[in-house]
Amino acid sequence: MTTVFHSIQDLRVQLNQDRNAGRRIGFVPTMGNLHEGHMDLMRASKSGCDVTVASIFVNPMQFGPNEDFDAYPRTLDSDLAQLKNESVDYLFAPTVREMYPDGVNTQIEVPSLGNILEGASRPGHFTGVATVVAKLFNIVQSDIAYFGRKDYQQLAVIRRMVMDLLLPIQIQGVATGRAADGLALSSRNAYLSDSERQQAPAIYAALQWAGQQISQGNLNYGMIEREAAAQIDNAGLKTDYFEIRCAQNLTAPGHSQRELVILTAAQLGKARLIDNLEVTAP
Ligand code: PAJ
Repeated sequence: MTTVFHSIQDLRVQLNQDRNAGRRIGFVPTMGNLHEGHMDLMRASKSGCDVTVASIFVNPMQFGPNEDFDAYPRTLDSDLAQLKNESVDYLFAPTVREMYPDGVNTQIEVPSLGNILEGASRPGHFTGVATVVAKLFNIVQSDIAYFGRKDYQQLAVIRRMVMDLLLPIQIQGVATGRAADGLALSSRNAYLSDSERQQAPAIYAALQWAGQQISQGNLNYGMIEREAAAQIDNAGLKTDYFEIRCAQNLTAPGHSQRELVILTAAQLGKARLIDNLEVTAP
C-alpha cells in the first residue's frame, strides 16, 4: 500500500504520527518517470528505515529557460505502480503551487560546488536543486535521505548544504544503476531515438577507458581528458566537458590526490546525458 499525499499539511500530520511512534524515516526525492536507478534508492531506504517517503515533483526552479521543463516525462500512474510494487509507504506529489505558493524569493546557493561543471553549463540549476531539496527536507524531516551517485555533483552540493546549514539529516549516496551496455539509467534516455540509443554507451566506455589509464598510473590528466572526449565525439555525441576532479570537492587534482572522480556531460540529439566514474589513483 502506497498512500499518496498532495498536500504538505496532510503529509506532516502522517509523518508526525510515525515519528512519535519512534519510526525511522527515509526519504527519496525524485522528479518521477521512475526507473530501476530510482528503485535502487527506494530499496536502500526500505532496508535502512521503518518508513519510506518518495517524492515526485518536477521542479521548475532547476530548469533553465531553454530547457526541457515542459517536455520532461510525467508518468504518475506507472510511477505509482512501481512504488506500490516496492511497498514504498508514502508518495508526496505536490503541485507547483503547493511548493511555491508565492513564487521564488529566498534561495539556497552553494557557489563553490554549484557553479562549476554542470552548473557552468546550466546557470542557476543547482540553486534550484538546493532550494527545492531544502524545502522538501523541511516538509519530510526524515532521518536519512537517499541520492544517486549518478548525479555526483548534485550529491556533493546537497552534502555541502546539509553541512553548512547544520541540517539534522544524514545523506546516503547509492551506486549508479546501468543498462547491460553500461549506459546510466536516466529519465532523459527516453528522448533518444533507436540509433542514438546505440551510440549512447560511448559515454561509459570513455569513462572506463579514462579510469583504466588513471589506475595504470597515467598522470597526464589533460591528455586523458582530451582523448576520452574525442572518443565520445567520434561516436557521434557532442562532449560538453570531460573532467578528472578530486572526489571530495570537485577541484582540479594535484598528483598527490588519489581519490578522484571523472565527470562528463554530452549532448546526443535532444538529450543531455551525464555520467561519472569514481577512481582511486595508485
Ligand atoms: P531525478 O533525476 O528524478 O533523480 C532522483 C534521484 O534518483 C537522484 O538522487 C538521482 O541521482 C537518482 N538517480 C537517477 N538516475 C539514477 C541511476 N541511474 N542510478 C542511481 N540513482 C539514480 O535528481 C533529481 O531528480 C532532482 O534534481 C531532485 C534531487 C529530485 C530535486 O528536484
